[in-house]
Amino acid sequence: MGYDAKFRVWRGDADDGDLQDFTVPVNEGEVVLDIIHRLQATQAPDLAVRWNCKAGKCGSCSAEVNGRPKLLCMTRMSTFTEDEVITVTPMRTFPVIRDLVTDVSFNYAKAREVQAFTPPEGLAPGEYRMKQVDVQRSQEFRKCIECFLCQDTCHVVRDHEENKQAFAGPRFLMRVAELDMHPLDVAERRDSAQYEHGLGLCNITKCCTEVCPEHIKITDNALIPMKERVADRHYDPLVWLGNKLFRR
Ligand code: SF4
Ligand code: F3S
Ligand code: FES
Repeated sequence: MGYDAKFRVWRGDADDGDLQDFTVPVNEGEVVLDIIHRLQATQAPDLAVRWNCKAGKCGSCSAEVNGRPKLLCMTRMSTFTEDEVITVTPMRTFPVIRDLVTDVSFNYAKAREVQAFTPPEGLAPGEYRMKQVDVQRSQEFRKCIECFLCQDTCHVVRDHEENKQAFAGPRFLMRVAELDMHPLDVAERRDSAQYEHGLGLCNITKCCTEVCPEHIKITDNALIPMKERVADRHYDPLVWLGNKLFRR
């Protein structure tokens, strides 16, 4: 059964903006992105929204619904009551371009700062076979659709512009962890995780894990194990002594 929903949508650009109220019809089975599209078709033809697949796989339609980071195409209208006001705003951690569209280039800059997969020199294709257990370990991380909702929600950078330079964010710390777990990667990852990508700023609040639409256990399976490996290196008295004696 259809009904009229009350929507409050942020409209504006980098300089200024505010929330605008709309009443818009909803049909059974629809998601928030359907309603945004209906708004574009009927009341606000210039409303800017980024989307692509409408299947939760491209990671484009990230925004905030009632203040929570969400994919608009995967947020069912049936999760709200019919009399609820549904507020849709752009991701707060990134600069607004227009309406619901943000400039996520922070994330591309952070991606470039992670050293690429580095196999040992001279290893020819076919000379190494991955064990299934090593394949499985990183499989989970490779489900990432780069929606950047985890980056948006992490309190280290949300409302803290001053931390952005020092902190890669959960998505890219997870990438560092994935590479560090790879049996063929020979790059130094532990010091760089701590000192270049800001792993120490993460205090494992797990908010990133909570919002991940791919249900990747970012904190438990990537960030905490990476912290443990960094701690082994820096605080284990035997490792410390070995470092002193043999200057590794
Ligand atoms: Fe999105 Fe999850 Fe990837 Fe973060 S880890 S960018 S929340 S899919
Ligand atoms: Fe941020 Fe996730 Fe750590 S939300 S503080 S990166 S556990
Ligand atoms: Fe592709 Fe929502 S439109 S994830």
